[in-house]
Amino acid sequence: MQSAPSEQHERGDQEAGRRAVGPRALVAYATKHGSTEEVARFIGDVLGRRGLRVDIVPARAAREAVDGYDLVVVGGAIYSGRWHRDAHRFLKNHRDELLHVHVAVFGMGPRDTTDEAFARAVSQLARALTRRDWLTPVATAVFGGVDPPSRRPEKLRDARDWTVIEAWATSVALVGRQAPL
Ligand SMILES: Cc1cc2nc3c(=O)[nH]c(=O)nc-3n(C[C@H](O)[C@H](O)[C@H](O)COP(=O)(O)O)c2cc1C
Repeated sequence: MQSAPSEQHERGDQEAGRRAVGPRALVAYATKHGSTEEVARFIGDVLGRRGLRVDIVPARAAREAVDGYDLVVVGGAIYSGRWHRDAHRFLKNHRDELLHVHVAVFGMGPRDTTDEAFARAVSQLARALTRRDWLTPVATAVFGGVDPPSRRPEKLRDARDWTVIEAWATSVALVGRQAPL
């Protein structure tokens, strides 16, 4: 369907704005104990180094429309097989805007690095995303997770592989710098 002329004009303005200031990315995260936020911030840094202007927000704080972004990264912790509710809500509440933007998704994550644990988490995230059948992410990943702080510090497992996360964020940045959808 063709857009109304005023809408076209508005989009034209937005695109001209984007060209002037460069591509913009939003990283929205859903966390309980903070490890997902740390990953979101790290991804934001990588995107920034790759030339995107980046905003990083808790998913639950993004109440306004998320307009004007070329790339949106949504990350959430997985607890008991379920992707964090704030990540779900973010996708649900911003469906209309996200239909017109590149979206990348990540989940966290198994604390033991066995293939089985990762396979389980991958299918947990995939199952979560079936609820958003309108969404075709440009990239999806599961990263290793971190034990909650209640564990004794010397026993605390941190399965985050920052090299893997950096590589993923770098590839996502390339998409973010492409033409808008
Ligand atoms: C009670 C509990 C249940 C968990 N369940 C899952 C799970 O089903 N699948 C998974 O991949 N990770 C699971 N995890 C691991 C978390 O996703 C991981 O600890 C993550 O880093 C937590 O993120 P946060 O620090 O941002 O809250 C679980 C962790 C806890 C403490």
